[in-house]
Order: sequence, then structure tokens, then C-alpha cells
Amino acid sequence: MIYKVASEKELATISKLLIKEIGIYKVVLLEGEMGAGKTTLIKLLCNYLGVIGPTNSPTFSIVNEYLTQNGDSIYHFDFYRIEKESEALDLGYEDYFYSGNYCFIEWPEKIPHLIPENAIKIKIELDNDNNRLIYIVR
Ligand SMILES: Nc1ncnc2c1ncn2[C@@H]1O[C@H](COP(=O)(O)OP(=O)(O)O)[C@@H](O)[C@H]1O
Ligand SMILES: [Mg+2]
Repeated sequence: MIYKVASEKELATISKLLIKEIGIYKVVLLEGEMGAGKTTLIKLLCNYLGVIGPTNSPTFSIVNEYLTQNGDSIYHFDFYRIEKESEALDLGYEDYFYSGNYCFIEWPEKIPHLIPENAIKIKIELDNDNNRLIYIVR
């Protein structure tokens, strides 16, 4: 299913549908150019999953942890600024990726060798009319 999104407002509905499509997957990769809307979508997915408190992009760190109202952790990664995959190793990425908690990952292209088998990918593309085309790639 390809969701065509004209505004941020429409994203709330889409995030519910995406969570359904994500199903039992916990490691969710988000691909799309700078400004495509990865961070914005992750915020809404986290809201839908019951995160309390703010969800800011990990600007000064690689990973942010959010807590849901059930007390579950959700991890939000942004690998944009890393230069080598070894930086993810130093971070202890495995503890997160294999924790069974949701991991939402921006710029997974930066860690091609560290992506687990059981990951699912969301792509965000802009069309000529400035709509976002959002779809899941298995
Ligand atoms: N679905 C959308 N419709 C309209 N504007 C959006 C949408 N998603 C994101 N934006 C806007 O695009 C800009 C970049 O979004 P952001 O989520 O930071 O992108 P990324 O994380 O992919 O670099 C923000 O100003 C945001 O408000
Ligand atoms: Mg971002």
C-alpha cells in the first residue's frame, strides 16, 4: 500500500495504518532524503504507540529513548552524522536492535552491515506535487 500524504495533518491517520502494516516487526528503518519527513513520522508513530513526553530527534546523540505509558522503551536512532559503522558498535547497537523493543532508525544506509534480518523498511518519497509517498518495503 502506498500512502499519498499532502500535509502533516494527514499523517496521524497514516501512522495508525502503518503500525498495522508493521505488525510484529520491531526494527523499523526509515529511508528518505533530508527533509522527507522521517523524524515527523517517527514522532507520530511514537504518539500512536503511547509515548508520553516529547520526542525530539536525537540531535546531539545517536539514540533517544522514549517511554510509553505501559513503561516500554522505544528507541529512536539517527545515524546521519556517523562516519563509520564502528560508531554504532561503540554505542552497543545490538543491545537495542535485539531488545525486542521498537527501534525506529533514520539513515540506516549508514550502517548497511548492521541491519538485522528482522527489520522492515518505510520509504518516504516526494512526488512532483510535493506530496509524500509513504510505503513499506519488506
Ligand atoms: N507529511 C508531511 N507533510 C507536510 N510537511 C511535512 C510532512 N512531514 C514532514 N514535513 C515537514 O518537513 C520538514 C522536514 O521534516 P523532518 O521530519 O525533519 O524530515 P527528515 O527527518 O526526513 O529530515 C519539517 O518542517 C516538517 O514539518
Ligand atoms: Mg530527521
